[in-house]
Amino acid sequence: MSRRPLIAGNWKMYKTGPEAVETATTLARLCSNVQDVEVMIAPSFLSLPLVAESIKGTNINLGAQNLYFEKQGAFTGEVSADMIKAAGAKYVIIGHSERRQYFGETDTSVCKKIKAAIEVGLKPILCIGESDTQRDDEKTFSVLDKQVSNGLKGYGSDELAQLVLAYEPVWAIGTGKTASIDQVRQVHLYLRSLLEKLFSKDLADQTRILYGGSVKPENAKDLMGIEDVDGALVGGASLDADKFINIIKYNN
Ligand code: 13P
Repeated sequence: MSRRPLIAGNWKMYKTGPEAVETATTLARLCSNVQDVEVMIAPSFLSLPLVAESIKGTNINLGAQNLYFEKQGAFTGEVSADMIKAAGAKYVIIGHSERRQYFGETDTSVCKKIKAAIEVGLKPILCIGESDTQRDDEKTFSVLDKQVSNGLKGYGSDELAQLVLAYEPVWAIGTGKTASIDQVRQVHLYLRSLLEKLFSKDLADQTRILYGGSVKPENAKDLMGIEDVDGALVGGASLDADKFINIIKYNN
């Protein structure tokens, strides 16, 4: 099955509204002839409506970096799936390692967030990945197994039709250290077979599995060339449109 690659930019806590609009506008211009890959950017919540307006009619999609799983209510400081959808987003990143590390995100809250996203028709990008000590202790596969099984507990293949998985080894995020081609190949193959075991062959075949962790213009082509890698989730190198376009156009 052919899966259209997704190159997604996670802007994390960078850029004010005007700065986000400026980068998005430049990127949209640079992407006007991009057809073979899907492009997504995820600015801060505050910038979502502004960026949505500036990329209207272009081939760039919008995503959020998180959501809260309740529909509405007295949850000061939180943002619901409905609000994100109404702001113009199509994707939402869920369970990023920074959220797990600094904000107490667990597989249980991740699972509820996936449901909230699916219910409103947002495409969830579920982030998973092992830490350096877990890798050193040879726990990589058991950690990933737990994150996927528990994060997606209770769902059937039909509900997960829009799911995207993002493998982001924690030790490769923002460190300049990229996982080796062999490490990425092994993990992505493992994740695809895990999806088949837990859900179905169809779901395993259709789900895009992205790699994230120090993706740069210099290594994008090699990483994207790995079997079972269906795109990238890019942090630092997505903040600059001129850099990010060279990742998006990894094939040129
Ligand atoms: P870097 O590309 O800066 O390593 O960040 C990766 C990431 O966390 C994307 O979600």
